Amino acid sequence: MAEFTLPKNSKVKIGKTFSNANGASNKKTFRIYRWEPDSGENPRLDTYEINLDNCGPMVLDAIIYIKNEIDSTLTFRRSCREGICGSCAMNIGGTNTLACTKAINDFSGDIAIYPLPHMPVVKDLVPDLTHFYAQYASIKPWMQTQTPPPPDAERLQSKEDRELLDGLYECILCACCSTSCPSYWWNSDRYLGPAILLQAYRWIVDSRDEFTGERLDNLEDPFRLYRCHTIMNCTNTCPKGLNPAKAIAEIKKLMVTRTL
Ligand code: SF4
Ligand code: SF4
Ligand code: FES
Repeated sequence: MAEFTLPKNSKVKIGKTFSNANGASNKKTFRIYRWEPDSGENPRLDTYEINLDNCGPMVLDAIIYIKNEIDSTLTFRRSCREGICGSCAMNIGGTNTLACTKAINDFSGDIAIYPLPHMPVVKDLVPDLTHFYAQYASIKPWMQTQTPPPPDAERLQSKEDRELLDGLYECILCACCSTSCPSYWWNSDRYLGPAILLQAYRWIVDSRDEFTGERLDNLEDPFRLYRCHTIMNCTNTCPKGLNPAKAIAEIKKLMVTRTL
């Protein structure tokens, strides 16, 4: 019988343990994925026990505390610390989410933290998003027009047309949804994934954009769009409460109606 196992150099080993919470009553243990590309060593899971009285309430606060006070080699991305920039996306307690908006108290036991799944890792918790951004560029995420704008005025939109962008414009491109999608795991070389398709739909339904047909043509492909099998992981994990699966379904509907 065939045996399936990870290649030796990708097995996650038990790493180092740090604690500065001796005697503390309000403490928490974080198990964090570590990988240093230059070391030639396997990834490892380091353990940090910290006194929660010394740091803020969010998972990002704990990670920053660990970096500042315990282990300065821990590497991760963050910027806004308020759920706007999308850079602190990681897998926390088994779910892709934003470290800055996820409360430590949402977890009863130890908290395991890994980089976003199925992406190449640059170092520790930093995924390589080069391909994801190239896919984003491929949908031309800007307004395209053929007609000249009205003289001395913006291209206006009715209140109803503007409302069509609700649930779409809020996307911060954190990639939590795409990296939770099994179809994207296996076919990310050709399938655009939920984040990019939600963004594509945001421009397709924008009443001011005049390239709707070309945008749909670009998605009319067995892989770029139709690898979505409505598994719904994307919608379940989106930390902004958006519904990429619905946006994908709307694009599929438009594909059908334009051929009728
Ligand atoms: S749809 Fe949600 S999970 Fe996906 S990239 Fe946008 S904000 Fe992140
Ligand atoms: S609904 Fe589509 S995009 Fe979302 S997780 Fe499922 S297959 Fe992926
Ligand atoms: S730091 Fe910007 S979304 Fe978390």
